[in-house]
Amino acid sequence: MKFGYFDDVQREYVIERPDTPYPWINYLGNEQFFSLISNTSGGYCFYRDARLMRLTRYRYNSVPTDAGGRYFYLRDGDDVWNPGWAPVKAKPDRYRCRHGLGYTVIESERNQLAARQLSFVPIGADCEVHRVTLKNQSGAAKEIKLFSFVEFCAWNAYDDMTNFQRNFNTGEVEIDGSAIYHKTEYRERRNHYAVFSVNAPIQGYDTDRESFLGLYNGFDRPDVVFNGKPGNSVASGWSPVGSHCLGVTLAPGEEKSYIFVLGYCENPEDQKWEAPGVINKEPARRLLDRFRTDRQVESAFDELKNYWQGLLSRFCLQSEDPKLDRMVSVWNQYQCMVTFNMSRSASYFESGIGRGMGFRDSTQDLLGFVHLIPSRAKARILDIAATQMEDGSAYHQYQPLTKRGNMEVGSGFNDDPLWLIFGVTAYLKETGDWSVLKESVPFDNDEKKSVSLLEHLRRSFGHVLHNLGPHGLPLIGRADWNDCLNLNCFSKKPGESFQTAENMESGVAESVFIAGMFVYIAPSYAEILRRGGFASEAEAVLKAAKNMEQAVIRYGWDGEWYLRAYDAMGNKVGSRECEEGKLFIEPQGFCAMAGIGMEKGLPERALDSVKEHLDTKYGIVLNWPSYTTYRLNLGEISSYPPGYKENGGIFCHNNPWISIAETMAGHGERAFEVYRRTCPAYLEDISEIHRTEPYVYAQMIAGRDAPRFGEAKNSWLTGTAAWTFYDVSQFILGIRPQFDGLQIDPCVPSWFKGFTVTRRFRGAEYVIEVRNPDGVEKGIKTMTLDGTPIMGNLLPDCADGKTHRVVAVMG
Ligand code: GLC
Ligand code: GLC
Repeated sequence: MKFGYFDDVQREYVIERPDTPYPWINYLGNEQFFSLISNTSGGYCFYRDARLMRLTRYRYNSVPTDAGGRYFYLRDGDDVWNPGWAPVKAKPDRYRCRHGLGYTVIESERNQLAARQLSFVPIGADCEVHRVTLKNQSGAAKEIKLFSFVEFCAWNAYDDMTNFQRNFNTGEVEIDGSAIYHKTEYRERRNHYAVFSVNAPIQGYDTDRESFLGLYNGFDRPDVVFNGKPGNSVASGWSPVGSHCLGVTLAPGEEKSYIFVLGYCENPEDQKWEAPGVINKEPARRLLDRFRTDRQVESAFDELKNYWQGLLSRFCLQSEDPKLDRMVSVWNQYQCMVTFNMSRSASYFESGIGRGMGFRDSTQDLLGFVHLIPSRAKARILDIAATQMEDGSAYHQYQPLTKRGNMEVGSGFNDDPLWLIFGVTAYLKETGDWSVLKESVPFDNDEKKSVSLLEHLRRSFGHVLHNLGPHGLPLIGRADWNDCLNLNCFSKKPGESFQTAENMESGVAESVFIAGMFVYIAPSYAEILRRGGFASEAEAVLKAAKNMEQAVIRYGWDGEWYLRAYDAMGNKVGSRECEEGKLFIEPQGFCAMAGIGMEKGLPERALDSVKEHLDTKYGIVLNWPSYTTYRLNLGEISSYPPGYKENGGIFCHNNPWISIAETMAGHGERAFEVYRRTCPAYLEDISEIHRTEPYVYAQMIAGRDAPRFGEAKNSWLTGTAAWTFYDVSQFILGIRPQFDGLQIDPCVPSWFKGFTVTRRFRGAEYVIEVRNPDGVEKGIKTMTLDGTPIMGNLLPDCADGKTHRVVAVMG
């Protein structure tokens, strides 16, 4: 069942009813100011850091779900409703929510009053703009009252929801005309405040939650709105809110719009006050002046649209399949931008409090983002590398505001260092900017310990080599990519975090996954060294990879698939000898991608085993059989009921590894099938089962061992976004950046007749037409660049700012 449709021309997902199977959200903002907004206008916003600088409050795990947002209440006679349906939930006669790229439009109508709410975060402004347009569709004049509402957060979102004995006393506001200022803690160490304003005179306001709602009421029944009269309340402690009351008179057919701005402002330390106790409103006035008129809002909105138009013109697909086109050309790239911005911090499944920017997560996000804005990818690489330790190991996360690593989700995940090499390789292949390797980057944010980025890569690679176990395979440490395979943890304490519990480093537990990753990365890393003038070091890297490959063939092959690991007792994990957890997806993906044991046909054998044992109609499960009991020697993985998350769930993130490996084996049809199964646009018709947004990937879909097989959770912030884009763009469509240019190497189902990709790459544009007259799955027979045949399938760097036509014929 569908709850909306894709508008491919506008690049919007149009939701046709407000009661979607789960809140279907969108993200606003790309730079410093970010908002989450659901199809009923729920959500919240923050400046740079969802934990430390949160402007508005949001209630997690609330009933009803999705409580807290920017709400507009319309009082039309005695009838009260919201354009976004929630929170009053009076049924609109018409409702549409259009989630677009960086904006959301909610259009609805009730009793012949039409309302349209356009919400976006303008480029270069630290605010969200909501323009509310009201139109009288009836034959009689209407007297309407429009109430706005937001609830402020006392900045630190964690304290805000825990430290009430303090918070209930600190709340402060100022009101100046139509502008409401939230200034909690400004009197002491903060030099920032929030402003919520409207570009019209108001009849009154409210800033105290209890006065606005009534102590025992929910957002669905605010006293002030139902009484039709603002309370002009001034918050003093308790919970500051912002609400304007506007009187709107509309003649038949008349339309009026109001521009609400909710923004973040900062003053220099010595200019905090206008007068004693009165905040300096200069930055707020400057901000509000930019969005006073419809013309200003429209031009800011156009700017946003052009911004996305420009970004998405860097990779654009036209094929016979509209689902594929819209995912590849629009939604997958859009999600890659969001994961790049948010890492795993703020979504409807991530509170914005617990997890900041992941070392592993953010480096992987680069794979799907680097072609969009390479300069930001570079800055991110340098930020991440600066949190690395001298021995090559890493904090698992850092806080976006401070950019410092912290131990909140631990460290000692022994795959982390390698992802840095992976991310830097992707950047180099996209840009050809070799100078990045010479950048000076500290360890652990200590400027005194600065070395070149290349040296950071050395430490990464070295970290694996210095931590090998009894079989010559990499020690797993706390865990590898699978945060939940905790082989050295032995946690018995209820509720203890597997990420930070004391790790009994055994010196025995080894990861075949890290081995596969090491071998996969080595050739590119060796090439980086060779080009940097370190030829013998490059040789040594390749030799180390050969040794690792041998170790996997000897000790990491289980007969029909690659083993997953050795536990702290040296017992096999992911072997047919095991009673549960016989087969795991991760090493099959990475070892096959690395071509380990190619001469003996091991990758193909492993892929067949995946197909035979792990594949389901909704995607490939992570492991089989799922663990049915808690295993002390395995940790968190066995804490999940069978079929969920890392225990037999369809963890979408590593499905593309299998798809990529299938392309390497030349299996276009199988590769595409793996891609298609988890791809949201293809799941739109079963939204009642899938439940999360049909325009973005979720981290996990419940596996076949779960009662709710096929149900997705944790949408938006997942490495799936980057990995699927990497898979579909570089391996299925085969438009693959290499150190020396763009390689064209598609691997598609034989029934693909062809496709065209427009790709901006290193200062030139290539319109690449791939034809498949013989219905093959892989192989380029001939290729021309601007009509001239070229040898092989690598396009040279034209770098001339021009558009070039490429025709590649498969066969
Ligand atoms: C989550 C984490 C990611 C990890 C994965 C598997 O998605 O963000 O870092 O690799 O789970 O445990
Ligand atoms: C939990 C989740 C996993 C995530 C990890 C890190 O273990 O299952 O997906 O990566 O937490 O916080």
